[in-house]
Amino acid sequence: MSVPVLEIQDLTVEYVSDERAVTGADRVSFTIHPGEIFGLAGESGCGKSTIANSIMRLLKAPAQITNGKILFDGADVLSMNDSSLRSWRWNQVAMVFQSAMNSLNPVTRIGEQFIDVIRTHRGGSRASALQRARELLQMVHIDPTRLKSYPHQLSGGQRQRVVIAMACALNPRLLILDEPTTALDVVVQQEILEQIRELQQELGFAILFITHDMSLMLELSDHIGIMYGGRMVELAPADTLRHGPRHAYTQALLNAFPPLHGPRVKLTGLSEDTTFTDIQDLELVGDNHWVAPARKTTSALGESL
Ligand SMILES: Nc1ncnc2c1ncn2[C@@H]1O[C@H](COP(=O)(O)OP(=O)(O)OP(=O)(O)O)[C@@H](O)[C@H]1O
Ligand SMILES: [Mg+2]
Repeated sequence: MSVPVLEIQDLTVEYVSDERAVTGADRVSFTIHPGEIFGLAGESGCGKSTIANSIMRLLKAPAQITNGKILFDGADVLSMNDSSLRSWRWNQVAMVFQSAMNSLNPVTRIGEQFIDVIRTHRGGSRASALQRARELLQMVHIDPTRLKSYPHQLSGGQRQRVVIAMACALNPRLLILDEPTTALDVVVQQEILEQIRELQQELGFAILFITHDMSLMLELSDHIGIMYGGRMVELAPADTLRHGPRHAYTQALLNAFPPLHGPRVKLTGLSEDTTFTDIQDLELVGDNHWVAPARKTTSALGESL
């Protein structure tokens, strides 16, 4: 098997304040191989962005990484100094943030923003940077004449595609997409997903794809991790998860979203008074399929899993 592009081992992140500490991620481990699309799913607040920001070394106080390792191509990300981090970001790993379509500079033309990213990290002439920008826009099906536009002259979906294209500008080995389509309508979501897939096939990077939308996740990902309350509760190839989710939380998540294709189904989801506690370490239950035993409690009944 290839050397993983990303390995997260037992990562724990705490948000510490004077009054209390909130655990953002609790002993989370997973691996992404070159060219693989890894989906990370789970309800709001389960720790997905905490993981993404830890990988990018973008966590700020009060966040603290209190345990674990992050390895990129075998190199220890948590011990990189500032200058290594600067050249590593964009060149090796790039991230599209939650609500990224608003992250473009509103007073600078799109083309100048591409030129800035490319020349800051790779040098070269303005002409070659512009040429690269044209190619990238074409890959996400935006007319290169748009390089002359300001962000507000584009639709939300176009802006999001520009941001994704920009993240690919330096051919990173890993692209982190944190809820890349949440603010967009379903049709535009589908188009963007399609273009992410095309870009990935053309450029060959690995993807960490974060969402709480299971239908999008199953459609795009090769491998999936499901988080609950800061812990990883299930880890499996997408097909395995689609056909045989084992953790009750994963089953509820899958039941809460309609499949994108196929017949209509009744949606059930997780009732609000159901919680999982005492989530243990993952155990191997099948081919590449890991599940964490947990205690499931529904209301006052105290029903155990
Ligand atoms: N700056 C912060 N200070 C204190 N607690 C925080 C901070 N950022 C995140 N948290 C807490 O850490 C936990 C994980 O948050 P995180 O943003 O990683 O969740 P998420 O899975 O990305 O959620 P969403 O789907 O809403 O984006 C939550 O309980 C959240 O309240
Ligand atoms: Mg988030």
